[in-house]
Amino acid sequence: MPRFGSAEVTVARSREEAVLLVADLLEETIRTNPSLNLGTATGGTMEPIYAELARRVKQGKINLRNVNAFQLDEYFPITPTHPQSYSFFLREHLVKVAGLPLENLHVPNGAASNPAQACRDWEEILKKNPIDLQLLGVGLNGHVAFIEPRREPTRELPEIRTSLVELEEVTIRANSRFFKPGEAQPHTAITVGLGTLLERVNEFVLVAFGKEKSEVIARALLGEVNDLCPASYLREARGRVSFILDKEAARQITV
Ligand code: GLP
Repeated sequence: MPRFGSAEVTVARSREEAVLLVADLLEETIRTNPSLNLGTATGGTMEPIYAELARRVKQGKINLRNVNAFQLDEYFPITPTHPQSYSFFLREHLVKVAGLPLENLHVPNGAASNPAQACRDWEEILKKNPIDLQLLGVGLNGHVAFIEPRREPTRELPEIRTSLVELEEVTIRANSRFFKPGEAQPHTAITVGLGTLLERVNEFVLVAFGKEKSEVIARALLGEVNDLCPASYLREARGRVSFILDKEAARQITV
């Protein structure tokens, strides 16, 4: 398998095949460790993956009864009952259909009256519960979670812990497709920090589909490792890092 620093890259022939590869990896990991701490991501990329996971749960191949899920990020301010909250998304995609117990779902508190405290609390939660396997998507600007790129090619992000961040225009635009016309869309979010991820995660799986992600995948794997592209730091992560891509997302890298 081709490697880019720590990252092992698998290119599937299609999106469907990539989804099956990610599900296979999840199935195998859950079978080996049924009380896994799973780091979850949200977004369009994760929907078919969670659907396939739910299918395998229904088939009795695995169960999520003892899995604990820790979500990367949450809009702020937002209530957990808001259909666009990540808390709601995970209840729909993992609790309702895949049998993850509700009490095993952990999401940063997007409705906190004191967001700084909510961020400190999240750091404590991850300190007590290191993540065995972290699922990641990637934003068009190179973000993972809501860790937005900086404007200078500095290397400060690995020092940053969970915090309240301003979302970039491109992120707000990309995610506006999930909101109804006229529905208020938060411009800030609580996100795990890059430093937190690099320290607390044992294994990463970044998934990307479609040609619109091909440029950011090339930047993450072939560009400089710096704050201009948060996903590029995965090439320096300790432990196992897999990028699972469809052909379209991989079209600007030669594998
Ligand atoms: C959001 C999330 C990210 C996710 C990204 C890509 O911004 N905070 O965790 O990776 O969207 O989403 P999509 O899979 O919909 O392209």
